Amino acid sequence: MKGTAGGKLILCGEHAVVYGHPAIAIPVDMHTTVEYEPRQGALVVEHDLWSPRDEDRLDEALSKLFPDGGAHLKIESDLPIGVGLGSSAALSVAVARAMGATTDDDIAAKAMEMERVFHGDPSGLDVAVAMKGETLWFIKGKPIRTIPSPPCAIVAIDSGTSGDTAQMVQRVKDGGAAAEEIIDDIGALVHAARGVIEDPRLLGELLSENHRHLRKLGVSTPTLDQIVDLCLAAKAYGAKLSGSGGGGVVLALVDDPEPVLRSAEAAGFEGWTVRSRD
Ligand code: PMV
Repeated sequence: MKGTAGGKLILCGEHAVVYGHPAIAIPVDMHTTVEYEPRQGALVVEHDLWSPRDEDRLDEALSKLFPDGGAHLKIESDLPIGVGLGSSAALSVAVARAMGATTDDDIAAKAMEMERVFHGDPSGLDVAVAMKGETLWFIKGKPIRTIPSPPCAIVAIDSGTSGDTAQMVQRVKDGGAAAEEIIDDIGALVHAARGVIEDPRLLGELLSENHRHLRKLGVSTPTLDQIVDLCLAAKAYGAKLSGSGGGGVVLALVDDPEPVLRSAEAAGFEGWTVRSRD
């Protein structure tokens, strides 16, 4: 049996979402497919994705769903790992589907068992986007809602290092009253973004402003700022870091991905068109 699921990007609202504000997450056009065949004996996993360092975690996550082995899994993916594009959630949902789970509750329950190995205490946002494949309005502890997607292309540029989510969340917590004020500003911005989600120009301006807030919170890096600047210089509607920061990717809303991708490549950064225009 086969299961497939896609990755995600946080469009806006990261960090503020930890404090009860909404976040908007979008699906990306990059997917993980898992083929599952029952077999006698130990679990056999075929893939060419994980580095030896991550292999133990992959095995541990899979052992949650296959405690007694009894499966041959073949994993294929075009999602880059560990850059904030939700690769582990896509894998977890694809495995659940390959095992025959069909209802949202069953898929989410199985996928979350794996995600907890990869992420400790995940909010469930990545799994929800991987499962739905739609743009989501997410508030912690509330039912997830589907909203329209921005009607433009989106690119992601990898800064080349990955941030540590727990460390970045702690940094914001340590920011005291000044950080609280910025968090409230981001919360207001996410509501505004929802109102203009179908207008790339206005949405882009808000996303660039969201990046400036995240920079003030101390979760950006000189490299992420450099990438945001090069995206804007290449005529992106807007650009910001996406995810916890401290590394990871920058997302940019664009009319045409090519100039931004070329300019990123010239500066030594790998990038992908993660959504084509709808
Ligand atoms: O880096 P990601 O894609 O896992 O996103 C982290 C988002 C935060 O808001 C910083 C943390 C969280 O749990 O929501």
